Amino acid sequence: MSELNLIPQPVSIHYKDGYFQCAECPSANGDTVFKNEIAVFNEQIAALGRLSASALIECRQDTGLAPEAYRLSITPQKIALTAATGTGAYHGLQSLRQLILLGADTGAVSIPCVDIDDAPRFLWRGFMLDTSRYFYSIDFTKKLIDTLSLHHINRFHWHLTDDQGWRLPVKEYPLLTEIGSRKLSVRHQPRDARYIGGFYTEDEIRDLVAYAATRHIEIVPEVDLPGHANAILAAYPGLGCSGGPYRVEDRFGIFEEVLCAGNDDIFDLGDAVFNTLASLFPSKYVHIGGDEVLYNHWQKCPKCQRRLAETSLKSPRELQSWITVQLVQMLAKHGKIAIGWDEVLEDSPQYPLPKEVVVMSWRGTKGGIEASRLGHDVIMTPNSEGCYFDYKYRKDPEEPGQLGVSTIHQVYHMNPVNPDMPADVAARVLGGQANLWSELIYAGKIAEYMIFPRLCALAETVWTPSAAKDFDSFTRRLPAHQQRLERLGVLQYRGPMY
Ligand code: ACM
Ligand code: ZN
Repeated sequence: MSELNLIPQPVSIHYKDGYFQCAECPSANGDTVFKNEIAVFNEQIAALGRLSASALIECRQDTGLAPEAYRLSITPQKIALTAATGTGAYHGLQSLRQLILLGADTGAVSIPCVDIDDAPRFLWRGFMLDTSRYFYSIDFTKKLIDTLSLHHINRFHWHLTDDQGWRLPVKEYPLLTEIGSRKLSVRHQPRDARYIGGFYTEDEIRDLVAYAATRHIEIVPEVDLPGHANAILAAYPGLGCSGGPYRVEDRFGIFEEVLCAGNDDIFDLGDAVFNTLASLFPSKYVHIGGDEVLYNHWQKCPKCQRRLAETSLKSPRELQSWITVQLVQMLAKHGKIAIGWDEVLEDSPQYPLPKEVVVMSWRGTKGGIEASRLGHDVIMTPNSEGCYFDYKYRKDPEEPGQLGVSTIHQVYHMNPVNPDMPADVAARVLGGQANLWSELIYAGKIAEYMIFPRLCALAETVWTPSAAKDFDSFTRRLPAHQQRLERLGVLQYRGPMY
């Protein structure tokens, strides 16, 4: 009996006798509520070989199942899929795509007969791509999103702005992309083929959002404020404390240049940016960053000092909590919920962090544990437990990556829920995520090297219930899964698993 080698491992697989065999790629058909999912699946499968003329995968709605759940019953004659929603159906079809990816190049498949019952452990199964330090094309991003969806990942966190580049067009502030995107950089350095310059057009963003939606992935945009702001300041120097001169950074690190907390114009910018995001992204979440803000300028700037006096706040650090509250309230007017990096927890008694803010725990799990105890929803993406994919796979000078090590073993064992959390606190953990910061990741293929197969381990961490998780089993399934990744053209890493 051959194993299915699915990743992430489903909640339950019951093996039966016999095989489902088909000389060509089986195609799907079924209830009209699933017509979009069926169309996307048939297109994905047609890329692998000849599609069989007769649909052998029958998709039926069963409203009794949980929203993201699916059931598969594979018999020698046909494959029956049931789900309550399009999302559940899509997940089931992606598990089937995994099985078909192991078939022959002609499309011929042979799949053991099984019954599968499956549903996710967590609501938030995320991946973040930094498009500021390096600019990734829409085509690359689509290929990535498609492969993420093969693993039931459902959130794509799009880091669109940082010191090294602003990628979001904002009508009222044209210089953000004119100057802040470094769009001329490649032309200015003709021998440097790295795409560090560029921005996404509104049409490209809408197209990508729609593409991701057909794969049941929600795109959550991030605009990092009030730090990581050199690209903004290069475009609009009046928004900084000193007035400049500023430049879009080409060095890496944490910079002192941040938005001036004493200048009301920063909220006009925020308003225009949030308007733009609200018009382009249906997600109810907007990530506002908030990480690594240095206060050197706020300490000296007369406008910032005046703001401190007006607000009766004690320190520049507390000014950040005042700004966070303003941004959260502005987003609420658009019906959006703010997500912040865990620094937003460092609030002030006068301006406590509003309870609706979702905290993304990156400096270990401490922030997430604290935030969930305080009543915030939380997403775990601890850099200490394998979730930073810009870190090396192993401590080896030959490995690409920087700042640390994120092993496959670590990300597999990252548990978003701390065992000491009471049930009501644990319920506020929405899930987990991995992040790819792109300082050193100057080509899509290097990005793929860093992402796969660590992402496969993350997928199992956020999808599979603890009882069905087992690292030895994962490492046994991985070689077959690597063949799938190879066939999709995303497997660049070939090193060991530890
Ligand atoms: C971060 O890594 N600065 C969120
Ligand atoms: Zn200032």
